[in-house]
Amino acid sequence: MRKKYAAGNWKMNKTFEEGQILLSEVVNMVKDELTHPNVQVVLGVPFPYLSTFSKLIDTPKVALGAQNCHPKASGAYTGEVSVPMLKSVGVQYVIIGHSERREYFGESDAFIAEKTDAILAEGLTPIFCCGETLAQREAGIHFDFVKGQITNSLFHLDAGTLKKVVIAYEPIWAIGTGVTATSAQAQEMHKVLRDHLAGQYGSETAEEISILYGGSVSAANAQELFSQPDVDGGLVGGASLKSRDFTEISKSFPA
Ligand code: 13P
Repeated sequence: MRKKYAAGNWKMNKTFEEGQILLSEVVNMVKDELTHPNVQVVLGVPFPYLSTFSKLIDTPKVALGAQNCHPKASGAYTGEVSVPMLKSVGVQYVIIGHSERREYFGESDAFIAEKTDAILAEGLTPIFCCGETLAQREAGIHFDFVKGQITNSLFHLDAGTLKKVVIAYEPIWAIGTGVTATSAQAQEMHKVLRDHLAGQYGSETAEEISILYGGSVSAANAQELFSQPDVDGGLVGGASLKSRDFTEISKSFPA
C-alpha cells in the first residue's frame, strides 16, 4: 500500500518561539491521536529552526522537512543550504520545485532535477511540487504542462530511484486562495500523472509512488480529497500553521 502523507509547508511564517509552540502542539496531538499506521506527518519548517526542532520530535509519526536546498554539496554559494547540511541536522524530507520558488526565484525544471538528484544521493526524500496556472488550465494545456514538469525533472531517474520520490500536485490557482480543486479535479490530474509515470516506468512502479494534493487543503475538505483513489495525502500551507487543523488533516484518511 502506498504511504500516505500529511505534509505541512510553513513557508516563511512563525518566529522561532511561535514555531516551537506550534511544533510541540502538533507532535503531541499526532502522538496521541493519529492511529492510522500508514500515515507519515512531515513538517517543512524554516531553515534556522531545523536543528532545534529535530531534537523536539520524539515520534517516528512526525518527520522533519526543509523547504528548499541547493544541489551542490558545498562550496561558494553564499546564502544557500546543501543537502548534506540538512541531513546533518536530522532532516528527512525536502520540498522542491514549489511554484513560489519557480515563480519568485526563477527555478527551472533542470535546476529542480539537480536538486532531486542531490536529495536522493543523500538518502533523503524529495517532495517534488508541480502544478499549472489558471491560464494554463483554461487553455486546456494543464495535463501536458504538469506531465512535462515531471518528465523534465524526474524521468532521468531509474525506476528504483523514482520510487523514493514523493510528488505533490499543487495547482497554482488553488494555493493560498481558499479555492480548492474539487476532489474530482484532483483525482483526474493525479490519475493522469500516475498514468504518465506508468507509461515511462510501468504500472507496478507508478502504483508505488505517493502523489499528494496541495492548494487550500483544510480540515473541512481533507477527508473528501484524501478519499480519492489516487490522492495519497496533502501538502498543506496555511492550515499547517494551526495545530488543531493540521492534526485533523492528518487524521482525514480513510480507515
Ligand atoms: P495553502 O494550503 O496555503 O493553499 O498552500 C499550499 C501550498 O503551497 C503548500 O505547499
